[in-house]
Amino acid sequence: KVLGILASGRGSNLQSIMDAILADRLQAKIGVVISDKPEANALRRVIGMDIPAVCIERRKFASKQDFEQALAAELKLHRVDLVVLAGFMRLLGSEFLSRFAGRVMNIHPSLLPSFPGLEAQQQAIDYGVRVSGCTVHFVDQGVDSGPIILQEAVPVLPEDTAGILAERILAVEHVLYPRAIQLFCQGQLKLAGRRVLLEERGS
Ligand code: GRF
Repeated sequence: KVLGILASGRGSNLQSIMDAILADRLQAKIGVVISDKPEANALRRVIGMDIPAVCIERRKFASKQDFEQALAAELKLHRVDLVVLAGFMRLLGSEFLSRFAGRVMNIHPSLLPSFPGLEAQQQAIDYGVRVSGCTVHFVDQGVDSGPIILQEAVPVLPEDTAGILAERILAVEHVLYPRAIQLFCQGQLKLAGRRVLLEERGS
């Protein structure tokens, strides 16, 4: 399957996906990396990798709809099967999502439905939970509200800052996201209402 990665920033999840492909833990191809920020480190990570990298800035378009149409056109151009949000800091609208229905994934640094939205790690610390983690989910129109694919827990320690917790969670993200994408690529994810059923390989 062909992946289209959307990233606004650092790009460490993009890196983990590239590494998983190189190590053959993930049988997929990155068709294109798109960022909405010209300065995004994610764009730099693909230099010399023979992967098209494109910047599509929101401010260059009159409306959100036009912007998302440009995103969709670029993804189509590269025959993308799965849109992978990897630190993409924008909410996608219904038109875009219906064009890629069931084919947009995101990773979020909390155990959803707890702590959706921005600064999930700080939210977890402020709430006082002893366990947090990360969630890979399909994207719907809400904020971090779509069907859950995989989750993994991470302890929250008394002396944690948001930064320390974020790092502990990130290490798990880098394993979980390629695994979830691999499940999609092998056709092992089935949607049943809002639940995602994991099917055995070959069944
Ligand atoms: C990660 O914490 C991810 O869970 C969230 O945004 C961050 C992206 O980090 N959605 P990176 O750009 O992949 O390093």
